[in-house]
Amino acid sequence: MKILTIVGNRPQFIKLGVTARRLRELGDKAPFASVVVNTGQHYDEMLSDVFFTELEIEAPHYNLGMGSGHIVDQIGRMMAPLREVFDAERPDALLVYGDTNSTVAGALVAAHLGVPVMHVEGGERLYRRVAMPEETNRIVTDHLSDMCLVSSRKAMRYLAREGFGADRLRFVGDPMYDIFKLSGEMLQSREAAQPADFRLTAGDYGICTIHRAENTDDRDTCLGLLGALDGAPFPVLLPAHPRLQHRLQNWGWSPQTNLRLIDPLGYFDFQSLLRQSRLVITDSGGVGREAFFAGKPAIVPLESSAWIEAVEAGLAVMTGRSPDRLAAALAAIAPPANVTALVEENFGAGDAGTQIVDEIAAFVTARQGWDEGAWHPLGRFEQLPKAVDSAALSHAAFTDVARYAALNGWQAGQLLIDVTRGFDGAQDLLAIARAEDFRPTLLLDLASARFNPLSAAAGAQFEGLAGLADLAATDVAGAALLSQALGREVGVADPAGATADRDARGAPVDLNAAAKAGATRLHVQPWLWAATPVSPFESALRLVDADNCAAQADLTRIWLV
Ligand code: UD1
Ligand code: UDP
Repeated sequence: MKILTIVGNRPQFIKLGVTARRLRELGDKAPFASVVVNTGQHYDEMLSDVFFTELEIEAPHYNLGMGSGHIVDQIGRMMAPLREVFDAERPDALLVYGDTNSTVAGALVAAHLGVPVMHVEGGERLYRRVAMPEETNRIVTDHLSDMCLVSSRKAMRYLAREGFGADRLRFVGDPMYDIFKLSGEMLQSREAAQPADFRLTAGDYGICTIHRAENTDDRDTCLGLLGALDGAPFPVLLPAHPRLQHRLQNWGWSPQTNLRLIDPLGYFDFQSLLRQSRLVITDSGGVGREAFFAGKPAIVPLESSAWIEAVEAGLAVMTGRSPDRLAAALAAIAPPANVTALVEENFGAGDAGTQIVDEIAAFVTARQGWDEGAWHPLGRFEQLPKAVDSAALSHAAFTDVARYAALNGWQAGQLLIDVTRGFDGAQDLLAIARAEDFRPTLLLDLASARFNPLSAAAGAQFEGLAGLADLAATDVAGAALLSQALGREVGVADPAGATADRDARGAPVDLNAAAKAGATRLHVQPWLWAATPVSPFESALRLVDADNCAAQADLTRIWLV
């Protein structure tokens, strides 16, 4: 088994260090041979070679020496030489990390050559693409991937909402956390930069990185932020990415007061200084997570970040591009906190390297006899069990169900109308139930909801249906959250054990017959039900549409409210 890995940027060399380390540990027992390509997107010694040396990573098998350039040119230029590598190596799968131009170029080439793509750090989202090439790169890579190896719990939810099935998702945790933990141990015995080397006192300085296009490309924005840092009430050390260095040279700007610009640091030097700092100011995804791992307060000079866990935990604050908000945040710093449990809940236990290697081996092995289409809801159409008697899922059939429930004195909780995927079809069924004088229960599984049930738009929908049904969540925590958000009573109902309108193979179930045969709880998925009986073909198509459209429509809904 041979896996090709494509890297090209500083954070990818660090993540490669984690999997390379695991493969080294396994030695002869490693489940696959690893061939590494460095695109050379980053090439300065302190942005590339230093990490291979420090993290003891073997020299890459291929160095493409791509260098810098416009995003579009860079991605384009990478593709032909990458194709040659694929042709020469014929790997069983491609492994890529993160969201850079090197990531997406590799994924595109592999996808076109029919090589499965495995994507570490899939699913992180900003839901904002302007001036954020990383978002475009990540979305494209995710959707070309056969397997997303996901680093945060929230990214699992994002991908599920985008229609990714469980067979394309694995939570492996964040490799940056593996190396963060390990570096903590290694720094006990290893030489590394100290605050005094920069005339700083431990616990009394900020450490900063700024390199995002949206913060460095525009002169006023960039100098506004640096001006605020220069005016901080304590020293701020900024190891400057060359992108920032070049800009400042062109603009002839240098700090006057508290900001200290230095060259980029090696991984261990940076970790040593971050761990001894008072706070972190960064627009870097990796450094932002490291601040969270270390329990340091952080200021994120971005309008929004893909890595919002620390903000949600109250340890980080986003200040956008505003120098005033940055200055205010610098003057009011949260104290550090012990957040290890929270970090591990969100990013795993620090064993991502092991999990990535195991998942790759399992994926490639299981892929023998792989049938394309199995991994995407759209592709499932051909494999769907065809409906045998879709009259069972017609409004006429539901009228009989509701009538039966009313005549037999059923409670609301015995007829569950599941709105976890959205409200499509639910209104129709509720109107029918009302005409039959029966009040069912609207059921919502908060953890897998395809829309934001706590949003204003969802609240309005629930409000509209309030007179027609009770409301229940599938668990106690969900019920509590919903009750609070909607200001109405929300019960708990477990659909397990109820007779569902689709069997395990996806074929429609006649709920009238089931009720008459003694079923006392019914689980209805309203998006499957049609006004009139539909042909088996249409019925199957409906299932596919429901899988996709609900996700798409609801995604739009989430982010527009
Ligand atoms: C890239 C990634 C970004 C990631 C970052 C990690 C994309 C679109 N962006 O941003 O997601 O967070 O890497 O650091 O892929 N330069 C040098 N020497 C180098 C590398 C770059 O001088 O070794 C300078 C060049 O002027 C170059 C500029 O930095 O034009 C930007 O480099 P580039 O690789 O395009 O993007 P990054 O800002 O590094
Ligand atoms: N880093 C480093 N030296 C520095 C600044 C950052 O080794 O001078 C490390 C940092 O510890 C983190 C990684 O680089 O592990 C983050 O990379 P970067 O900010 O370039 O990219 P991003 O994470 O934003 O994609």
